[in-house]
Amino acid sequence: MINRTISGTTDTFSAAVRVPGDKSLSHRALLFAGMANGDSLVTGLGTGKDIGTTVSALGSLGVDIHGERVRSPGVRGWTTPESPIDCGNSGTTMRLLAGVLSTSPAHAVLEGDASLSKRTMRRLEAPLRSLGGRIETTNGFPPISVGSVTSSHAADVRIDHASAQVRSAFSLAALAADGPSTIDSPPGFRDHTERWLSAIDLGEWVDTTKFRIDPGEIPPARYDIPGDPSSAAFLWAAAAISPGSQILTPEISLNPGRLGFLQILEAMGAKTEVLVTNSTGGDPVGDVKVEGASLRGTTISGQLVASALDELPLVAVLAAYAEGITHVQDAGELRVKETDRIDAVEQMLLALDGGVTTRDDGFDIVGTGVLSGGTVETHGDHRIAMAAAIAATRATGDVEIIDSDVAAVSWPDFYETLEGLWS
Ligand code: S3P
Repeated sequence: MINRTISGTTDTFSAAVRVPGDKSLSHRALLFAGMANGDSLVTGLGTGKDIGTTVSALGSLGVDIHGERVRSPGVRGWTTPESPIDCGNSGTTMRLLAGVLSTSPAHAVLEGDASLSKRTMRRLEAPLRSLGGRIETTNGFPPISVGSVTSSHAADVRIDHASAQVRSAFSLAALAADGPSTIDSPPGFRDHTERWLSAIDLGEWVDTTKFRIDPGEIPPARYDIPGDPSSAAFLWAAAAISPGSQILTPEISLNPGRLGFLQILEAMGAKTEVLVTNSTGGDPVGDVKVEGASLRGTTISGQLVASALDELPLVAVLAAYAEGITHVQDAGELRVKETDRIDAVEQMLLALDGGVTTRDDGFDIVGTGVLSGGTVETHGDHRIAMAAAIAATRATGDVEIIDSDVAAVSWPDFYETLEGLWS
């Protein structure tokens, strides 16, 4: 385990940074390419460990991935691996792959690391079984056993959470059904899978949240992955808490289900500019610029929570550096992420003398504009480690981050990039 100490500064910066490829899109591009029969090309893949996990998982099913080229016999030709597939720390790998395998002839056992082994897989059971998919969990948790299914049927389901992982698992499983299926959920989710399936005529929106999946085969294709807004968010936050600083991040994935953090930055008083330049599979891509300012507290609830879900630990850091109170509500999902992120945020801010109280579904932060030095436990969670590093950039003393290298799950060069902002 490696620890790292970061010292704060009052110096400002002006920088342009190209962040690694989007994690959600990288997983999806690899899976879509791996399900297709033939050769596909994926450029700009995310560099985090989680993406390596999806690459090796597909490898053990008979998909050959060499550099940017993905060669597959197609999902109906996947081979059953002899040993369990290790999904590491990656919930997206486990849940999306479970969906695909649940209605496929191949069979696999999916397991994960200590953190993933504590994350619920129960929410996959009913939707996948309604299609005739096979999934057996261990009392609702990993390891899970999926697949060995030669025929499945159409289904219409509604799920309680705005979970893109569960929606995507269902949609990919439903491609093998004997007729059109639909999935509905509360709004706010990232709809990458739905957009990509629509672009290849394998699905269509029925209304704003209900999506229909038409069975069929994903064709081989080329995928160009834009930058990850959930990684860029750390740099946006570093600028936002430093009045006079600015950051430009080109070619970022701008799916509306990922942009809640930019709305929150605006509401707190930072200046943001978004320029859409492109799209990939119907998913918008563009440049984002953020300028620091004196921040004020805000309230985050409802649909905004789903579209800023992975960034909420970072919102806690912004809130501590703001004036006034910030409320984060309706965010109980944070308790079932890589760690319990509500508890981890509380511990992080208390360690830095911040003002925080927690509830079952969120936290309230009393912003004073100041955080001190201290020691932050990451609990093996990449986003807590990186949020602590951003807190450290303006702290009045040194911040030690325990197990700091866990950031590599989504961004191996994160600390070097952060330090580079001031050089
Ligand atoms: C993801 C969906 C979200 C998000 C996760 C990635 C995806 O999870 O938190 O980091 O790529 O589909 P939920 O589906 O659990 O909300």
